[in-house]
Amino acid sequence: MKVDGKPYRTIWLGADGTTVQAIDQTLLPHKFVVRDFRTMEDAEKAIRTMIVRGAPLIGAAAAYGMALAMAADPSDAGLKRGYDVLMASRPTAVNLRWALDDLRALLSPLARGKRRDAAYKRAAEICDEDADICRRIGENGLGLIRKLKPRSGERINALTHCNAGWLATVDWGTALSPIYQAHDAGIPIHVWVDETRPRNQGASLTAWELSKHGVPHTVIADNAGGHLMQHGKVDFCIVGTDRTTRRGDVCNKIGTYLKALAAHDNGVPFYVGLPYPTIDWTISDGHREIPIEERSPIEVSRMAGRTASGEVVAVDILPEGSPAANPAFDVTPARLVTALVTERGVCPASEAGLLSLYPEQAKAA
Ligand code: MRU
Repeated sequence: MKVDGKPYRTIWLGADGTTVQAIDQTLLPHKFVVRDFRTMEDAEKAIRTMIVRGAPLIGAAAAYGMALAMAADPSDAGLKRGYDVLMASRPTAVNLRWALDDLRALLSPLARGKRRDAAYKRAAEICDEDADICRRIGENGLGLIRKLKPRSGERINALTHCNAGWLATVDWGTALSPIYQAHDAGIPIHVWVDETRPRNQGASLTAWELSKHGVPHTVIADNAGGHLMQHGKVDFCIVGTDRTTRRGDVCNKIGTYLKALAAHDNGVPFYVGLPYPTIDWTISDGHREIPIEERSPIEVSRMAGRTASGEVVAVDILPEGSPAANPAFDVTPARLVTALVTERGVCPASEAGLLSLYPEQAKAA
């Protein structure tokens, strides 16, 4: 996607062929800064501190993290250390495990001297594949949008939560890819953007990337969605996911479940865009089996923003001494999901639905 006319991906290999570069998402929308990752530890810190975030991008960053690990130490011990350190960076997005397992399986049988180049090559392939997958999710979601009739006014109103746009992936996005493709196809579409407390990925990132692409949108407080749905102002919801189980339970940013409940109560379709590495075929019950990341309470108690003079500052918003809790994800049960939108097509959120698109996974049951 383009930033001020210049095409960007979220992560790429630098001109020296070793350093990895990525957009720093902690500074958006106020500053556009590109960070260098020179070591595996840089990549791990970037994932942990959310310089890069979003399930598919976490996977891509982990793949490059393994390449950096191999550049420093291609021994078996270096491979194990890279895998273990990166795996511990964030617990919920299964794309992390998917990418690390992929790299480990590729690199383990290779001689030490071949591991570095093989890891860089595979990381680049994972990035290209993610961009292509997300483009295809967009095409499949566009088919759903074309069937919708606006409930009020002339344009289609979407609602999304968190950021599952191109910033969360290598390019295009998952939930936002159909929206970009609808907009580019001339369909009048407007997006209600949940601000997504506590880290405000909707207000900071989704609004930023939609505005860069010229997609009409309005940021709303997280609590406004149900009211808008009751008044016919939402034609469909679409979100991304960090992990979806084989029976179609969807783990995503905290607050997604409440939007799915409101959508269900109001007969609003609730779609989830996802690439195949986000499906965790090893588990069924998302509520019981998905580890939910508990992040620092400071993300709840402190907010950052730009002052009138342009300075970016952080302020504390709680009474001194009030504790805060910060579960970062929740699980929306499959029964509240109208359909899953994947690179292979659209299916019901169920084991049978997913297996109809991925029959090769039937044996993994
Ligand atoms: O904590 P984050 O910002 O990494 O959480 C991201 C989300 O919840 C996204 O909606 C999800 O990863 C899907 S990304 C295509």
